[in-house]
Amino acid sequence: MNVVILAAGMGKRMQSALPKVLHPLAGKSLLTHVIDTARTLSPTTLCVIYGHGGDAVLTQFTAADLVFAKQEPQLGTGHAVMQAIPQLDDAVPTLVLYGDVPLTTSASLQRLVAAAGSDKLGILTVQLDDPTGYGRIVRENGAIVRIVEQKDATPTERAITECNTGIMVAPTVLLKQWLAGLSNNNVQGEYYLTDIVASAVAGATEVVSAQPDAVWETLGVNSKVQLAELERIHQRSVADRLLEQGVTLLDPARLDVRGTLTCGRDVTIDVNCIFEGSVTLEDGVTVGANCVIKNAHIGLAANIKPFCHIEQATVGAASQIGPYARLRPGTTLGEEVHIGNFVEVKNSQIAAHSKANHLTYLGDATIGSRVNIGAGTITCNYDGVNKSRTIIEDDVFIGSVSQLVAPVTVGKGATLGAGTTLTKNAPAGKLTVARSKQMTIDGWERPVKIKK
Ligand code: UD1
Ligand code: MG
Repeated sequence: MNVVILAAGMGKRMQSALPKVLHPLAGKSLLTHVIDTARTLSPTTLCVIYGHGGDAVLTQFTAADLVFAKQEPQLGTGHAVMQAIPQLDDAVPTLVLYGDVPLTTSASLQRLVAAAGSDKLGILTVQLDDPTGYGRIVRENGAIVRIVEQKDATPTERAITECNTGIMVAPTVLLKQWLAGLSNNNVQGEYYLTDIVASAVAGATEVVSAQPDAVWETLGVNSKVQLAELERIHQRSVADRLLEQGVTLLDPARLDVRGTLTCGRDVTIDVNCIFEGSVTLEDGVTVGANCVIKNAHIGLAANIKPFCHIEQATVGAASQIGPYARLRPGTTLGEEVHIGNFVEVKNSQIAAHSKANHLTYLGDATIGSRVNIGAGTITCNYDGVNKSRTIIEDDVFIGSVSQLVAPVTVGKGATLGAGTTLTKNAPAGKLTVARSKQMTIDGWERPVKIKK
């Protein structure tokens, strides 16, 4: 089919310089949600109608399967669809979606498309307790005969609770004819897409409807209030899906997934965690409160304690991270690695059973197995221009508050005395210490306050 996404509206009520359809919901723009859903229908043409803030929209969407048509000025939803006409393949039906209605499911759209087939006009309609503002579906003897906009409706018509979601599918050749016949003779002086319904009925084309599984699938975003409401609805439905899969969420209302979260069995997530991009939590993983985890893989039964920040990192099985640990891009931890509080790791590999439990920076380091990194250790990886690597081999013990000035290597089984500033390689199996010798001054007295 052809898919046309209407995204030219102003979005004035967003009170923002950013075009409405570029505002994020669950970490991706409203328009991306709609495009992603449209793609699940494998359209032959995917055309976005843009207008307001057009260039910003264009530069964000460069995928080869998208075509764009500009609508300027914006003279209504019918006029918007007219801009797509040159792109539409007559041989397949055309589905119209709204760029500011982000949560419609593929299943609901497929139902609508199936109901319409190749020769009927299909409308996704919804029963609303409060239909204010929506176009009303007018039926005679059960059959849809037209849609009337709120502003053009009589009091009787306004009492109708079946509403137009705006999502429609039509045979393309007929759609083009109907659009050519639209007028703007209405209260708003706009070319209404909804008027094609009366044209279809006049031409004896059957008009059918389908309904979404949930009302929220059809809700649009016009303001920050509505954006926030839809964000909560979406997050709750993500949380419910995780609960159904057996994930323990200590509070499903306090979880944010901005991307894809894949969980194994017996995963537990405490409150206020944010998952961004693609995150995998393997079986038995526990995530403590207030963690932010982005594009990461957390291995079997690992324990992420509260207040950790993890990005582009792999955590090995049975590892213990945090509280208050930061794993930055390029971190790969083996099995049973312990990273404790106020430890930052960047672009480093740490092999199985190694520990850095307190107040440490490990950047551009390759660390072997069973290594113990003492409190306050720093890899000095940056000279102001270049980054250099630190290599720490298996079974090394680094005494507290050591600085390793890279490039430098600590050989297998070596020990660094506490407070060492290491500027040359430390040989394997030996104790290396680099610090000034301790001395005691006999007869020294503390100064006393001089009275004036
Ligand atoms: C429209 C429908 C109404 C339906 C409601 C559902 C018409 C005439 N009315 O009304 O029946 O109940 O949506 O939310 O179709 N747009 C453009 N160019 C334009 C005008 C709009 O691209 O010139 C886009 C907007 O960006 C938006 C969508 O079309 O994504 C709907 O426009 P909006 O102005 O919100 O239509 P409504 O008056 O709400
Ligand atoms: Mg609207």
